[in-house]
Amino acid sequence: MTPNFQQSNLQGRARRYAMVLDLLFNRVGLVGSLKTAHRGARHLSLGVRLTDPTHLDKALKLAEPLALHAGTENVLAQRAGGLVIYQFQLAQAFWEYYTRADVSGLAVGLAEARRPVVFDFDPPHALVAGTSGSGKSETLKSILLALLTTYTPDGLGLVLIDPHRDYTDFINAAHLVMPIAAEPGEIQTALLWANQELAQRKAQDIKDGKLLIVAIDEADQALSDKANLEAAKNIAKQARKYRVHLIVSTHKPLHTDLPGILDMLINRFVGLVSDAKISATLTGHAGLGAHKLTGKGDFLHIAGAVLERFQVAMACRADFARLPRAEIAPAVVQPLDLVILPADKPIGRPSLELDPVIAAQYFWRNPDSISIAMARELFNLSRSGHDLHKKFVIEFITELRRLRAAHQIGA
Ligand SMILES: Nc1ncnc2c1ncn2[C@@H]1O[C@H](COP(=O)(O)OP(=O)(O)OP(=O)(O)O)[C@@H](O)[C@H]1O
Ligand SMILES: [Mg+2]
Repeated sequence: MTPNFQQSNLQGRARRYAMVLDLLFNRVGLVGSLKTAHRGARHLSLGVRLTDPTHLDKALKLAEPLALHAGTENVLAQRAGGLVIYQFQLAQAFWEYYTRADVSGLAVGLAEARRPVVFDFDPPHALVAGTSGSGKSETLKSILLALLTTYTPDGLGLVLIDPHRDYTDFINAAHLVMPIAAEPGEIQTALLWANQELAQRKAQDIKDGKLLIVAIDEADQALSDKANLEAAKNIAKQARKYRVHLIVSTHKPLHTDLPGILDMLINRFVGLVSDAKISATLTGHAGLGAHKLTGKGDFLHIAGAVLERFQVAMACRADFARLPRAEIAPAVVQPLDLVILPADKPIGRPSLELDPVIAAQYFWRNPDSISIAMARELFNLSRSGHDLHKKFVIEFITELRRLRAAHQIGA
């Protein structure tokens, strides 16, 4: 009886929200036709096709008045699939919760009408963001379970960085390529090892190696060390073609917190955030309103043109019980690898060494006639590389002149 009662009650609500929508559309002079009505885990959504699409902004701005008039906590408005979608938050009694038993394969949760939201490596690196308690760790666990139940340990390896020791259910999971890293030393080793693996794949041009996932929870803590951040950045920058992927979870998802790396984590899972500005930065859509989500697994998935609100399917004991287990040896990092990641030099720049061929070019052309732009264009030099070569050649010429003058005086 209960589901039927809920269902008819929900239909009544949907009708009421549609009436409120109609009323406010009339009041502000908007014209549109109702095209879709769906249930999400915590909202009812109504999709409207505007007769005049240039009225989009006006239609999106109707979210707050709609919430007020409909007597619901929040309305989120967004454009999707040619429609303006209004998501009316449901009262808690109507909320649905999903477990991994509700999904299959690579699905992480369910969007409206129970459509699965699937984890994908395109874009290659993912971000899970939200305030404390928004459900980031549960989301990361659900993503990891999706991956670990889809791929065999031969097809996928996992490096798991967990400073808060929240992932004890994954201890000795057969996919782990080293024990879960929690202590600062272990975290550093784990990231160095992943970079070492990447460097090896690069050197040997291995593009069909097994997938390597580097999952980092509490990234603000795990990557607060500069060398760790550089190591993660290095993976984000060049790992795609070598099948090494980052999944980074943090409650501090700003550029200042994750400098130089946030823009590369564009497969985004965004839960409740603290304000509209953070929402706009993370979602790339001003007005989307991740700060109005209900928390605890209510997430937006944004990847390229895809934008979906969904409820994360939580993992239960039984899901973990089914994971294959194995004893795992600690990672060994060659001391040499410490050289790969200089702590205070940006990775990817040519190292600052004097190149005799470039120095000869400076000598030949006259060092004062070479601008930074030319140095960049002709020799792929940074400003400091240019300064180094210019200074060297000027000193070289000065010394030559001095020697010549001394020789002439002597003669
Ligand atoms: N998908 C979900 N479905 C139902 N409840 C959830 C879901 N995700 C999280 N919760 C609830 O919210 C609580 C907090 O979730 P979680 O630990 O994942 O938050 P968090 O964002 O990682 O927080 P913190 O930043 O403090 O680590 C969980 O213990 C659970 O009770
Ligand atoms: Mg957490």
